[in-house]
Amino acid sequence: MTPDIIIAPSILAADFANLAAAAHAVEGAADWLHVDVMDNHFVPNLTIGPPVVASLRRATGIPFDCHLMIEDPKRWAPAYAQLGAYNVTFHAEACDDPVALAKDLRAAGTLAGLAVDRDTPIEPYLELLPHFDTLLVMTIKAGFGGQAFMPEMLAKVRTARRHANAGHLDIRIEVDGGIADDTIEAAAAAGADAFVAGTAVYGADDPARACRKLRALAEASRVRQTTSDSGGRTV
Ligand code: DX5
Ligand code: ZN
Repeated sequence: MTPDIIIAPSILAADFANLAAAAHAVEGAADWLHVDVMDNHFVPNLTIGPPVVASLRRATGIPFDCHLMIEDPKRWAPAYAQLGAYNVTFHAEACDDPVALAKDLRAAGTLAGLAVDRDTPIEPYLELLPHFDTLLVMTIKAGFGGQAFMPEMLAKVRTARRHANAGHLDIRIEVDGGIADDTIEAAAAAGADAFVAGTAVYGADDPARACRKLRALAEASRVRQTTSDSGGRTV
């Protein structure tokens, strides 16, 4: 069964010398492991690439949510599908034909995700959403972990959720950046149902416990939302 809420710890905030341990630390508590791939061109930062993903894939059973912050995703993204990623997300800003790449990814056996960075409006991409399984709305400027959550980004989540509901689209809306105990409820209320958390999970003493707390807060927020949408009746 697909869970209502996806919690995706980002290994960007983990100890890069112990990535397998970081994965094991959230097994049973997280739904996806968020893998931030950065190429020092699309974003200034540089992280990991296919060899690390291949090794880590063998070390854990958690589905991988690969977030490609790279130029030329058409060239590189299908490799992550072939390595066994569950979802591969690339940036709208880096791709002139997102629908073609989404088709390539699905054909390679993975879910296809579209990411929009802080300064990118969502409206031009709404019509493309039927071709995607996930929409990732950055709630910071892509590139580094540990930044402050930007609540104004939730307007994009609300717009996308309205559009998805109106069109009965089967799409996850994921938020990434500054997600923590004090921000996840607002993101869930706006319509997000997948939550990336780096610092909030791997900065905690007990990463699995941090995941469970985030999930409980997101679930409670969605229940409140459903109740208020139905005029106060419990549904
Ligand atoms: C940043 C990455 C995020 C990052 C989030 O560009 O896409 O996934 O790990 O880190 P936190 O949760 O610390 O904001
Ligand atoms: Zn990310």
